[in-house]
Amino acid sequence: MKCLHLPCFLWPCILVISASPSLWAQAAGLVAGASNEARQPVLELFFTNRLQQLPLTNVRVPYDSVYEREKHYEGVGFYQALTNMMPTSSGLPEDGVVLFLCNDGYNPAVPLKTLIREHAFLAMADHDAPKGSHWLPIKSGGLKELGPWYLVWPESSGPSPNHPWPYGVIGVRIASRQSLFGPAMPLLQAHQRGFELYSKSCMTCHSINGVGGTLGPDLNYPKNVYEYWQPAQLISYVQDPSKFRLNAKMPSFASLGEENIVAILDYVKHMQGHKVVPNIGGKK
Ligand code: HEC
Repeated sequence: MKCLHLPCFLWPCILVISASPSLWAQAAGLVAGASNEARQPVLELFFTNRLQQLPLTNVRVPYDSVYEREKHYEGVGFYQALTNMMPTSSGLPEDGVVLFLCNDGYNPAVPLKTLIREHAFLAMADHDAPKGSHWLPIKSGGLKELGPWYLVWPESSGPSPNHPWPYGVIGVRIASRQSLFGPAMPLLQAHQRGFELYSKSCMTCHSINGVGGTLGPDLNYPKNVYEYWQPAQLISYVQDPSKFRLNAKMPSFASLGEENIVAILDYVKHMQGHKVVPNIGGKK
């Protein structure tokens, strides 16, 4: 087990896992030329109570995408939290991607550099919350608790697809893109754009070959959606799931535009020929 230069025994909240060799053996066949890089370890950190013992600071968020207005929070800077849990940051991958682990199965990914550069902040309490509560209820989803941690962007002045606002954050996984997403990456350059769009809009809730969120079903394993859906229906489904299902949890993606949806679906179809047994160690 590699510890990325960290004295792991000192930091019980840090768990370093290596992807299982069998997964990478299969992934190596899937992602051409990427097998060595794929063996880099994935650093998994769970935010324990230790974080709450750090001195808390206050931030003003000019535009919060969940509440759609200005907000004020108490919490810890993301980078400060990270460096506190890891006394040396020398082991962090330069091009690292941070995958947020949320208690509802939502898994957005953000480049580590973006989180540092834009002073992302982990909120643990809302200044506008009613007495006796940490959070203001949110309109959608019926969820009242945004804790234990809620990622906010103090420099954001409006909605942006590159800035997710995950709540219910319990930890993170940090690794190179290849290590995190290898089994879901397309083999052909032609599907790279579809994959990028999919990563931003769909992967937070869906997985491909087990890589991605668990709020929605895996779109490739064991059966690719193209194996049981009429291809022509898939575009309209993604544009507006509520036309197909009552109480659909999946939001409408009509705003992506048909051309982008087609690019995403072409990538999903391409993955039908590249199934990898998911490395999830039992279903959630
Ligand atoms: C907020 C979470 C969420 C996001 C983001 C999301 N989905 Fe879904 N999706 C779901 C859920 C949950 C279902 C299961 C049906 C339902 O409850 O709506 C689903 C169902 C589906 C299905 C049908 C699967 C089946 O087996 O019938 C397809 C296809 C699909 N999604 C494609 C996409 C694509 C493509 C994107 C990105 C453009 C996307 N989804 C983004 C949550 C999401």
